[in-house]
Amino acid sequence: MDLLELVLGVALGLLVICCGLLRWNELRYSKKGLPPGTMGWPLFGETTEFLKQGPNFMENQRARHGSLFKSHILGCPTVVCMDPEINRYILLNESRGLVPGYPQSMLDILGESNIAAVTGVLHKSMRSALLGLLNPPMIRDLLLPKIDEFMKTHLCNWNDKVIDIQEKTKEMAICSALKQIASIEGSPACEALKADVFELVLGTLSLPINLPGTNYRRALRARSKVVQMLRKIIEKRRSESYHNDMLDVLLKNDDSMKAKLSDEQIIDLIIAIVYSGYETVSTTTMMAIKYLHDHPKALQELRKEHLGIRKGKSPEDRIDWNDYKSMAFTCRMMPSPSPLQVIFETLRMATVVNGVLRKTTQDIQLKGFIIPKGWRIYVYTREINYDPCLYSEPLSFNPWRWMEKNLGSHQYFMMFGGGSRLCPGKELGTVEIATFLHYFVTRYRWEEVGGATVVEFPRVEAPNGLQIRVQSY
Ligand code: HEM
Repeated sequence: MDLLELVLGVALGLLVICCGLLRWNELRYSKKGLPPGTMGWPLFGETTEFLKQGPNFMENQRARHGSLFKSHILGCPTVVCMDPEINRYILLNESRGLVPGYPQSMLDILGESNIAAVTGVLHKSMRSALLGLLNPPMIRDLLLPKIDEFMKTHLCNWNDKVIDIQEKTKEMAICSALKQIASIEGSPACEALKADVFELVLGTLSLPINLPGTNYRRALRARSKVVQMLRKIIEKRRSESYHNDMLDVLLKNDDSMKAKLSDEQIIDLIIAIVYSGYETVSTTTMMAIKYLHDHPKALQELRKEHLGIRKGKSPEDRIDWNDYKSMAFTCRMMPSPSPLQVIFETLRMATVVNGVLRKTTQDIQLKGFIIPKGWRIYVYTREINYDPCLYSEPLSFNPWRWMEKNLGSHQYFMMFGGGSRLCPGKELGTVEIATFLHYFVTRYRWEEVGGATVVEFPRVEAPNGLQIRVQSY
């Protein structure tokens, strides 16, 4: 009896403490004018619920509080915005105190001149340098030949093998980027750099705890190795002949370069290019292969189009800009799904980017609420992809839907962000995925082995890999 009383007493005590803590945390953030919502536990907020339940957490909170609600996630008081109109406003109004708000670990690892962190004049000059590298003529003349050469080799000798397509697409994204940036390929340096980039990416999604064994510490070490290696390459380049790659263009010190960057800024820009293109391109490619496997009709149409492109070419002949453009559809009506349709439908269905983060530099008024200075805003765009008013039967993979109307230009199309931060790598990423698909579907057929699980949140991935058995045609 005594023991039962003791247990009940402790349980009651704990309950009172928990309620007290929750209440105290709510009161701490109960400033007048804030949107409704809950703040969870002191320090941890609602991070566990958010990471565990993902999109369901967002849906539940929206049902309770509306499309603009407060929470405390990933270490910060945050306002989550699921209203497409306001999201658009936030993306278009960086100059009104809505600057990027990425986590500290990401900023430490990607560098202080990382384009996604800098604002104002520095952002303008870094972006201008970046657009100078990623514009269509550069892709056509400099990058596409490199991408084509890389994909042809990367997709060699897969016949009769079981491969982990997740691993292969990750490798593709990093190695293809290194070849385009600094002509690094097929060498021990490439392998070493690849391992460091993997560490670096993992660290940006971790808590900034600099202790032995943490992802954060490993990533900081990987960053300093990558920086050292890039410094050496840059030094060597100054006394070398032309390599015809992105680094050459960045180092070219003549008047045609609108924005001249310091070596440190060039290094951070290169790290940003590798980082930003890595997960977006690799995951979209893997998911396109998964969806095509599950939808034979779409695969058949896609193959037909690509075999058409190869007609009259020898196996060694590369695909050029016109071939790529003949896969494109934008507002033109095409008789079959082009990779763009497949790629956009994959991006929509898999939602590789759930949203973007902003931080307020002053008190901001949104939809009649006041968001205090220093708060984070999660511009959560995921739900737009499944809005039945925009995409009929939104849960079915239907690349043909992109032929019907110009879906890619409706005002709530935010898969690549918007405003002054609109993804500068949009075209390059699409070219890479399209080239990979070109060689993959014209050379091979494949089947999944072992029924892999793909999780969608917080990132799209196959935790145990995605094994496929590949056969040559
Ligand atoms: C194809 C898949 C891709 C998707 C879905 C995607 C998506 C996005 C989104 C949503 C943003 C906006 C971030 C923000 O507003 O804070 C962004 C920015 C950015 N992306 Fe991409 N991206 C892709 C490919 C790439 C590639 C291949 C590169 C590199 C070559 C790249 C480089 C960047 C950079 C540097 C930024 C920051 C721009 C700035 O802050 O001005 N992206 N991307």
